[in-house]
Amino acid sequence: MPTTAAMPRPANPAADRTQPLISMRRITKSFGSVQAFRGASVEAHAGEIVALVGDNGAGKSTLVKVMAGVFGFDSGDHDFEGRPANIRTPSDATAMGIQTVYQDLALCNNLDAVQNLFLGRELTGSRWWGRRIRRAECEVRAREVLTRMRLGNLSLTRPVGAMSGGQRQNIAIARSILWTPKVVILDEPTAALSHSAAEQVSRLVRTLADQGLGVVIVSHDIHHFVVNATDRVEVMRLGANAASFRSRDVTGEQVVNARVGGNEAVNLAG
Ligand SMILES: Nc1ncnc2c1ncn2[C@@H]1O[C@H](COP(=O)(O)OP(=O)(O)OP(=O)(O)O)[C@@H](O)[C@H]1O
Ligand SMILES: [Mg+2]
Repeated sequence: MPTTAAMPRPANPAADRTQPLISMRRITKSFGSVQAFRGASVEAHAGEIVALVGDNGAGKSTLVKVMAGVFGFDSGDHDFEGRPANIRTPSDATAMGIQTVYQDLALCNNLDAVQNLFLGRELTGSRWWGRRIRRAECEVRAREVLTRMRLGNLSLTRPVGAMSGGQRQNIAIARSILWTPKVVILDEPTAALSHSAAEQVSRLVRTLADQGLGVVIVSHDIHHFVVNATDRVEVMRLGANAASFRSRDVTGEQVVNARVGGNEAVNLAG
């Protein structure tokens, strides 16, 4: 067998957009006596960018980890493409087409973009050649996927440790979509990025959604990223949904007010 890796395949832009790709409803989860959520819900459709916002400790990262199979949950429904997801491990989630980019990105700084993209799943040579990495083929595929994501200018050969925060974020996102582009979950992709680097990430995320992916993004950058670069906002407070908005209909101030609370849960998401 010449390869161990799948070709990057574009998501299907004609996918059924009425049914959510991923749907978590009334999820509860405790860590011992700490209740991380009391009934959290979030869903994402093909072609949609959903922001998950909330104060520190609201449960956003934990919910992401439940979606990604890192944690189980106590009760509620976790469906994928309309069926119970039955995700028990991160590899179950990956096999289903759910990819997650965590905040620490998990890139190897001393390796270049190609090596990072294919880390742990390199294209390998035939048995005859041993498991020699087919570098040239990896480069071609890396270039293909980066071009599709409009990141054709990224260096393939510079160690990623020598790249900017925005470029590193983009490589981490590229790695996530290289294999299973149905749903991508990003935990704080614009944290610590300059305004222009965050805008580049916004454009990249919109490119992915336009290609038919569902995207869920945890973000604290409400006034710029959340209201300008996403389609829907789910606000979490104390482990439950406090509000839902359509991003184009809401101001940053309204989202912040919902995040800090006091009012009844609102739903303006339609
Ligand atoms: N492994 C764990 N063991 C025990 N408690 C945990 C664990 N992971 C998270 N928690 C608790 O669950 C709650 C939600 O944490 P989580 O990290 O999901 O918050 P968050 O919304 O991502 O916050 P932040 O904006 O600070 O990243 C917190 O009370 C946290 O202490
Ligand atoms: Mg978090």
